Amino acid sequence: MTFKEAIQQGIPAILPAPKPYESEINHAPKRKEILTEEEKKLALKNALRYFEPQHHATLLPEFKEELEKYGRIYMYRFRPDYKMYARDINEYPGNSLQAKAIMMMIQNNLDYAVAQHPHELITYGGNGAVFSNWAQYLLTMKYLSEMTDEQTLTMYSGHPMGLFPSHKNAPRVVVTNGMMIPNYSKPDDWEKFNALGVTQYGQMTAGSYMYIGPQGIVHGTTITVLNGFRKIGKEPKGNLFVTSGLGGMSGAQPKAGTIAGCITVCAEVNPKITKIRHEQGWIHEVIQDLDELVTRVKKAQENKEVVSIAYLGNIVDVWEKFDTESIHIDLGSDQTSLHNPWAGGYYPAGISFEDANEMMANQPELFKEKVQETLRLHAEAINKHTAKGTYFFDYGNAFLLEASRAGADVMNPNPTLGREFKYPSYVQDIMGPMCFDYGFGPFRWVCASNNPEDLQKTDNIACQVLEEMIKTSPEEIQQQMKDNIQWIRGAQENKLVVGSQARILYADAEGRTNIAKAFNDAIKSGKIGPVVLGRDHHDVSGTDSPYRETSNIYDGSRFTADMAIQNVIGDSFRGATWVSIHNGGGVGWGEVINGGFGMLLDGTPEAEQRLKSMLFWDVNNGISRRSWARNEGAIFAIQRAMEAEPLLKVTLPNIVSDDLLM
Ligand SMILES: NC(=O)c1ccc[n+]([C@@H]2O[C@H](COP(=O)([O-])OP(=O)(O)OC[C@H]3O[C@@H](n4cnc5c(N)ncnc54)[C@H](O)[C@@H]3O)[C@@H](O)[C@H]2O)c1
Repeated sequence: MTFKEAIQQGIPAILPAPKPYESEINHAPKRKEILTEEEKKLALKNALRYFEPQHHATLLPEFKEELEKYGRIYMYRFRPDYKMYARDINEYPGNSLQAKAIMMMIQNNLDYAVAQHPHELITYGGNGAVFSNWAQYLLTMKYLSEMTDEQTLTMYSGHPMGLFPSHKNAPRVVVTNGMMIPNYSKPDDWEKFNALGVTQYGQMTAGSYMYIGPQGIVHGTTITVLNGFRKIGKEPKGNLFVTSGLGGMSGAQPKAGTIAGCITVCAEVNPKITKIRHEQGWIHEVIQDLDELVTRVKKAQENKEVVSIAYLGNIVDVWEKFDTESIHIDLGSDQTSLHNPWAGGYYPAGISFEDANEMMANQPELFKEKVQETLRLHAEAINKHTAKGTYFFDYGNAFLLEASRAGADVMNPNPTLGREFKYPSYVQDIMGPMCFDYGFGPFRWVCASNNPEDLQKTDNIACQVLEEMIKTSPEEIQQQMKDNIQWIRGAQENKLVVGSQARILYADAEGRTNIAKAFNDAIKSGKIGPVVLGRDHHDVSGTDSPYRETSNIYDGSRFTADMAIQNVIGDSFRGATWVSIHNGGGVGWGEVINGGFGMLLDGTPEAEQRLKSMLFWDVNNGISRRSWARNEGAIFAIQRAMEAEPLLKVTLPNIVSDDLLM
């Protein structure tokens, strides 16, 4: 059977042979056993409804075993035999180029080189699912291969509900993930309803088919480190950034520190992970001895080196040792997995990695105590450094939240709404005011030919567009423009492409539109193949998340989710090829609502019309909300947008004098 035939077949009429469990693959951990015996029957009944009744007796014991063993029914038997990767768009079967683009993006999210747990259909973040089981995948691909540009596929948390008649300017796919009645949005609700097979955690770009591997994280982290140094008025060169974690997201920190040009010390307790990052070249040196680390860092500071050093051990020891040895830390943060503190996200100090793992499994209460004790020590050591001038920021990993719950000294003595903690989050001080408020966010594109030459051409086009724009850019955004030009010039050199031929580039509404228009022109004239546009949900308008993306909103509205919902609705009727809206992503189920889009550029005048209409809205929606919250940069940016587009009329805030309120 050819690849096209396999896609068109959907769920096979004749059962494929059961597949052995491949132990060399990185599998998802066993999920919490949460269903009652009756609920387990319901989960099985739900799973079997994808299959003809004559197969039920065969599949039932198999699915039952999966549920017992892994806590979920993945339907491993139905994993396709063809290789999973983003192919040239022309290799997909179908009647709609837009649908083919979506198939390509789905396959990229499940590529073994890209996905964290490919057999469990998890792209990243431990539970970021594209689908909940393989039947959903097979059925979705079949629908996409059949649909025309007069239909829309509705995706209910991984389940393809079906094709509905629509029209050619409608999205081809509408995705919702994890949308719950608010009172049923606690972590255990996810465990239960996911095990029943009726919802899933889409993270951000996992369930919306827009993940592009580590490149996105490296770029975002580079921007944060660069702007962190600007915030304190220092050059990165010769100055020190101390942080921890070399995992999925956190592993980008030393690479980003090197691109930014500073000295990075990143602690990691797990030797395996440290080895991987070293071999990958994302860290230059590994040191296990604290005295050796001190000597090495002093030398790097003296010689103004650009170097990244992994300390194989606990981060708390680094903060404490650097205090007693009077090593000045310029920038400090932390990216241990504190959204998950009791199950391996954060390791206690004074205990070996192996002993800690054992304690976690056998003495969970003692482990919890040790974690909280370490968090108090961690905060105490950071406080000593910040008293000497270190700038510390929370990196969206719930460090301050968990430290506060452990009774650590991290609370602001004079809290105001949004400034409860002693230290800011990276969005409050860096990403929000310097990027999001001006509309700069993680725009991205994928060359649908999957030809690296196309990517190079698009890099050049984007660079030319920005170089032209910077000549007339206002002073307020000159720095952002320069950073983006520097990134895109060096993008090929950084060799961060994994999976599809994709590029991330922070840009504002005008930059995104101009770049997209230039791509569409190049497609029209045959210089490059079709291009898919998208973005991370972690952006100006896509995400309402009170402790992260919208943490620099201080009018009380950061606990609302109107912006993200408005955004996805607005994108859907302004020309997006697909849209998505998710509960959860990064900070947890029930803690964030986030959405995104994908748009195929095919060189047609319709594509030009769509990109202009949708990208303008997709960025300016969030700027208008940030401006209404009285954020200065956003007030500037939305006024500029109104000057450029007479049809835009946004309500501006009047600023009350603080003296009057005294
Ligand atoms: N800033 C952002 O843009 C952003 C985005 C997404 C997620 N996050 C958050 O960042 C955190 C990290 O994400 P990740 O994907 O890298 O997680 P991860 O679990 O893959 O990596 C965290 C690493 O920290 C190590 N670690 C734990 N405790 C330690 C200690 N005391 N000392 C030294 N090392 C220790 C672990 O061994 C692990 O390798 C998560 O909480 C995540 O939600 C941040």
